[in-house]
Amino acid sequence: MKAIVVTDQAAGTAGMTLVERPEPSAAINDVVVEVRASGFVPTELTWPSTWTDRRGSDRTPTIPGHELAGVVTALGYGTTGLSVGQRVFGLTDWYRDGTLAGYVAVEARNLAPLPGDVDFPEGASLPISGLTAWQGLFEHGRLQAGQSVLVHGAAGAVGAVVAQLAREFGAYVIGTGRAADRQKSLDFGAHEFVDLDADALDDLGGVDLVFDVIGGDVQRRSAALVRPGGTLVSVVGPVEARPTDGRAVDFVVESDRAQLGEVVQRVRDGRLRTNIGTVASLDDAVAALNPTERRTGKTIIRVRR
Ligand SMILES: NC(=O)c1ccc[n+]([C@@H]2O[C@H](COP(=O)([O-])OP(=O)(O)OC[C@H]3O[C@@H](n4cnc5c(N)ncnc54)[C@H](OP(=O)(O)O)[C@@H]3O)[C@@H](O)[C@H]2O)c1
Repeated sequence: MKAIVVTDQAAGTAGMTLVERPEPSAAINDVVVEVRASGFVPTELTWPSTWTDRRGSDRTPTIPGHELAGVVTALGYGTTGLSVGQRVFGLTDWYRDGTLAGYVAVEARNLAPLPGDVDFPEGASLPISGLTAWQGLFEHGRLQAGQSVLVHGAAGAVGAVVAQLAREFGAYVIGTGRAADRQKSLDFGAHEFVDLDADALDDLGGVDLVFDVIGGDVQRRSAALVRPGGTLVSVVGPVEARPTDGRAVDFVVESDRAQLGEVVQRVRDGRLRTNIGTVASLDDAVAALNPTERRTGKTIIRVRR
């Protein structure tokens, strides 16, 4: 099968190459999925799991990409809940070969059925952004209707879903980003927008929840805005600043079939819009994943039609 591989951490996405790799086989409780569309998070090539296995041994050449939508082609020993020919989408194990390939082996529990009226690129754009937003807002952030949420990077892949879900849930949503992101952030559900380069974050007063996808100085300034009893949720590693009278949580997204179902149902009934910036074929994936100018929204690789 065709696959994108990486072997050199220092090279980043520029080190991606399109090669032939053997097709994976299904282990216990796995399915093999014929990948139709794949999602890739640009920071993936900095994660240790891209380069080493769970024991810390080199696992290159690595196939990156951990989001997929596709069709089940084989079941492993003992696998239940999915069937050959079924349309699925979901999130694959960080430590296994990923989805920028013709086929991927993945534990069935990490996948959910993809309804027939949601196309494969849309399906592949949802698992990381959708689950991260859901878990950050509702599990870790314990969001309540009527609360205020500061959503950093609200025009980005994760932020656009956070803004939409928070608004649907009855929160007051303040989106942030660069000046060029203002209209897109408002379109994705923010009630107001803060340009992080030009506006003063500190003028906001208090918020109940900060959802941080940026970190560094932005996170440090945001921690001070959390109201007593509020929460700062970070998806960019250990928190660097804690609210004085609130919680701080950092987490890595996990797959969850029921939550995938919640997210995709919202796409079907129009409550949630996907944030896809670029769709490219697997043959063009290396160029698409090495853009020469700024892009917003997710890059989806259409592996097979
Ligand atoms: N822990 C987890 O489970 C988890 C899950 C998903 C994602 N993540 C992490 O979350 C981060 C965001 O992911 P994503 O897919 O949403 O990325 P993305 O689509 O690039 O969105 C990030 C947005 O924030 C903006 N931004 C970044 N730094 C900024 C700054 N200093 N000032 C103003 N705007 C800024 C970006 O603009 P520019 O493009 O112009 O920088 C972009 O619009 C990544 O680091 C990713 O690894 C973690």
